Amino acid sequence: MKHDFIVIGSGLAGLTSALVLKEYGEVLLITKKELTDSASMLAQGGIAAVVDRNDTFASHIKDTLVAGAYHNKKRAVETLIKKSPQAIGWLIKQGVVFDKKDGEFSLTLEGGHSRRRILHSTDFSGRSIELALINKVKKVKNIEIWQDTSLLELLVRKNSCSGIQIIKHKKVANCYARAVILATGGIGQLYQWTTNPQVATADGLAVGIRADLGVCDLEFIQFHPTALKHNEAPLFLLSEALRGEGAYLIKIKDHPPAGGSKIKNYEVGDRFMHKVDRRAELAPRDIVARAIYEEQKKGNQVFLDIRHKGETFIKKRFPNLYREVKRRGYDMTKDCVPVTPAAHYSCGGVMTDLYGRTKIKNLFIFGETAYTGVQGANRLASNSLLEAAVFPLRLPEVIHEVKAGDYFDCELSDYKENIKTGNLREDIKKLMWKSAGIVRNHKTMQEAYEKLSEWNSELEKTREINCDFSEVKNMALVGKYILKLALNRKKSLGAHFVES
Ligand code: SIN
Repeated sequence: MKHDFIVIGSGLAGLTSALVLKEYGEVLLITKKELTDSASMLAQGGIAAVVDRNDTFASHIKDTLVAGAYHNKKRAVETLIKKSPQAIGWLIKQGVVFDKKDGEFSLTLEGGHSRRRILHSTDFSGRSIELALINKVKKVKNIEIWQDTSLLELLVRKNSCSGIQIIKHKKVANCYARAVILATGGIGQLYQWTTNPQVATADGLAVGIRADLGVCDLEFIQFHPTALKHNEAPLFLLSEALRGEGAYLIKIKDHPPAGGSKIKNYEVGDRFMHKVDRRAELAPRDIVARAIYEEQKKGNQVFLDIRHKGETFIKKRFPNLYREVKRRGYDMTKDCVPVTPAAHYSCGGVMTDLYGRTKIKNLFIFGETAYTGVQGANRLASNSLLEAAVFPLRLPEVIHEVKAGDYFDCELSDYKENIKTGNLREDIKKLMWKSAGIVRNHKTMQEAYEKLSEWNSELEKTREINCDFSEVKNMALVGKYILKLALNRKKSLGAHFVES
């Protein structure tokens, strides 16, 4: 099987790559489940960009650097932000519709932004963007789509990538191409509590580590402050745009109170974020997530309260959130909604330059899987969809460098239907939550690193493979690396917070 290009992943970075590369040859677009299974699809708030005449690149750049604790690569941030208007223009050309008011973009606010600059499509922005692009890729003749296809390995020889090994229909196969584009998303499923979809098992990172591509900043795992505290996996996200539009965070001691599980009234003074940070509920995510964690540690429960905005506003601005939260038992116009932080985004990844190029020829990486340096130690809200669009759109500038590879035969792993992993998937998730979570300490991280190294070595000994086993193996490997980098960083910075 030979194609010009193989793109792995159907989030925004993968779809953008496929739509760009269709101009240069035949594209095979691979995704692990269905095209709609991605973290991009679940993004709610929107996409940050400088589109308002009163906004400036300098202001968006500064906000990104401040949220990232100045650990970002400045040149990467400048590229991201300065290319944001073009990326928005391209998305609109693909059929994405952003909300407008009086002919102008209706911009929302989120934590860490000094002004309204987030374009959105009601309150399920990721879904609108994804559906428009999926509609597009399905119509393109030279994009072939394979769903239910798992990535196993990169085929690399003499510092050049010429394809990938996959599992499709319970068979292992090699697929060859002139270039491979990895856009497999993030790592949320390594954690017990996450907003990420089931497919986010760090597969791209794992193949990158095995191919010795170099990883960076994996210790900076972002925890979204407000996932709906509920018995489901993944946890349902309560967009930061709710706080941007005025929702409060409140704490209640010893909830649930006798006689009911819903909070309808609370005493003035139960807001707590203004005591932690002058930006209150709109401080960057690492600060808000830690503040909620501290309240929970004291035995308080934390709730999101938007009731004061009124029923008409809530139902008009957040129609999908209103419906989804109601389905889970809370009426946002009448109830406060219980929240908890959850693993949301990996600020680090496999090292790339600002064109997605890696140290291996013919291999590009985009989106959450990549480390470009834009996110720093804590990503600014709604900069992730922007990164996922901006960098693949730069492919035309470098695609001429891709030469037909050396299509060598690579031995196929043996597929085996049942490979026992016991409770390992759940054990990894619990261990990561406990050791590489919102607040960390050296001893717990060291013990977890040793445990994950042991599990990783055991899993590496098995020669057979299937989709489940491959995911668990990837989770153990990447978990080990997250802890390794977290142990190396002795001082707290951004999303990496170590107890003193
Ligand atoms: C949100 O809507 O709060 C999530 C968007 C993001 O992760 O930036």
